[in-house]
Amino acid sequence: MNNTQKQTQTVGIAGLGAIGSAVARALQNGIDGLDWIAASDITPNPEFDIPLVSFEELAEQCDIVIEALPPKVVPELAKITLNAQKTLVLISSCALIIYPEILDIHKDTNSRIIVPSGALTGLDGVKALKKLGIKKSTIASNKKPSGFTGAPYVDEMGIDLTQIKTRTKIFEGNAIEAAKGFPANVNVAATLSLAGIGPEETTVEIWADPDAVGNSHAMIVTGEFSTIKCTVENMPDPANPKSSMLAAQSIIAALEDLNSALVIL
Ligand SMILES: NC(=O)c1ccc[n+]([C@@H]2O[C@H](COP(=O)([O-])OP(=O)(O)OC[C@H]3O[C@@H](n4cnc5c(N)ncnc54)[C@H](O)[C@@H]3O)[C@@H](O)[C@H]2O)c1
Repeated sequence: MNNTQKQTQTVGIAGLGAIGSAVARALQNGIDGLDWIAASDITPNPEFDIPLVSFEELAEQCDIVIEALPPKVVPELAKITLNAQKTLVLISSCALIIYPEILDIHKDTNSRIIVPSGALTGLDGVKALKKLGIKKSTIASNKKPSGFTGAPYVDEMGIDLTQIKTRTKIFEGNAIEAAKGFPANVNVAATLSLAGIGPEETTVEIWADPDAVGNSHAMIVTGEFSTIKCTVENMPDPANPKSSMLAAQSIIAALEDLNSALVIL
């Protein structure tokens, strides 16, 4: 116990896949002030001896619900958790853009949404620069063509990913169009847009690169007094090659900050 900790908070995890499992392991090892008591998943994960419950039970039993689900499932969990006036730690940030009803519900409840930095970096500076005014915000994401398989935009445009032999820009648009076209790929762009000048004004480029080893994201955020340039290069998560290990660790870091006596933001 440290001097800022009031009482132990109960935690639930929705989705025990690659990200949810990494967070679960950290909670099992112990995070100050947090007690992991339940999870929701459609597939039992034999690694964990934890009760699997419905989203309703998760929200009822837990002070904090961690979302690590496919984006299309997020509205259901968010609606239930926010209406229960609980804290939702949300990693599928695209869902906040694709399903604006989540933020509408949030406004009418006494709930809290925490969006961890995920696979991105530099959001601390973006939030600070926003106070002075951001003129332009762009992010370019780069990964192997096969990483975009199943993306709605790729299917709609009839892009044959197997024919891409050199680094090719397959999309440019704002973060709303990017989130709808690539819901599993551009959480970083969604998070940047929410921290910065908003989804409509944030420009997103998506590059398919046959030589890419992992995935990388390069952002440039420009204000009158500062220009922030950040590039993060992530190796794929072996548990889910479409994810990155950094995303799970960003949730764990956010959970540790909740009760830490020394917080570096
Ligand atoms: N913010 C970021 O930078 C960032 C980075 C990487 C991944 N993500 C997002 O994080 C989310 C989780 O990623 P992951 O790699 O852990 O995915 P994953 O596919 O490994 O895990 C998803 C889990 O959700 C479970 N699930 C599916 N439908 C369900 C339902 N209806 N009810 C309960 N459980 C259900 C699955 O069984 C699985 O265990 C994805 O939406 C991904 O796009 C965000």
